[in-house]
Amino acid sequence: MRIIRAKDYKDMSRKAANIISAQVILKPDSVLGLATGSSPIGTYEQLVKWYEKGDLDFADVTTVNLDEYYGMKPENDQSYHYFMHDHFFDHVNIDPSRINLPNGMEPDEKKECARYDAVLRSVGDVDIQLLGIGRNGHIGFNEFFSKGTHCVDLTESTIEANKRFFASEDEVPRRAYSMGIHTIMTAKKVLVVASGEDKAWAIRESCFGPVTPKVPGSILQLHNDAIVIADEAALSLCGDFL
Ligand code: GLP
Repeated sequence: MRIIRAKDYKDMSRKAANIISAQVILKPDSVLGLATGSSPIGTYEQLVKWYEKGDLDFADVTTVNLDEYYGMKPENDQSYHYFMHDHFFDHVNIDPSRINLPNGMEPDEKKECARYDAVLRSVGDVDIQLLGIGRNGHIGFNEFFSKGTHCVDLTESTIEANKRFFASEDEVPRRAYSMGIHTIMTAKKVLVVASGEDKAWAIRESCFGPVTPKVPGSILQLHNDAIVIADEAALSLCGDFL
């Protein structure tokens, strides 16, 4: 696991965008695994800027997203479909037919998990998987170790962390479809972005703690090309280890 120290959120975002840019330049038909949440927003903004300058071309890129809320319509502004279009897809020349996310509106869990796993198999290996990390150390919406796509009951701490995006706690979805940990681990490269003091515990435990399903991000210690870009605040509990 390689840990890259960033000064702040902006620096973290530029560093992450640089790594993704290099990937797309070196391999224009890359498969990018993408994430939502506030952590990667700056990375997407930077990629959009470089695209607008003519430095990047996403025409041949395929994307697979980590997760989507169960029962959430794609046009709902809290859906991860909406998020991805709003922050990235609508601003670059990505081919809409190469964009893949779980379908939160499919009520049949078994059917949707099988469909999304088939999509993941059909696109081939993910070249680089971008990840944020939950305050409790979850990645995607994996609250434990898992294999393929599954429908997760979100933990109280995740519901609590996500309520800031909704008008009231009652509106926060209780379930979500998530790519599995095993699938995430098959990505050729994994890139975690973390900023702020509220991620300090998750970063310390994921990078230096025991590998345990209680902290799903800790599994990344076993990946042979995992990069964590974290700012000073997110690294603030790692002092003894760095
Ligand atoms: C959600 C998402 C994760 C994300 C996490 C942290 O649970 N499913 O993919 O990493 O939130 O979000 P944020 O970056 O907003 O702190």
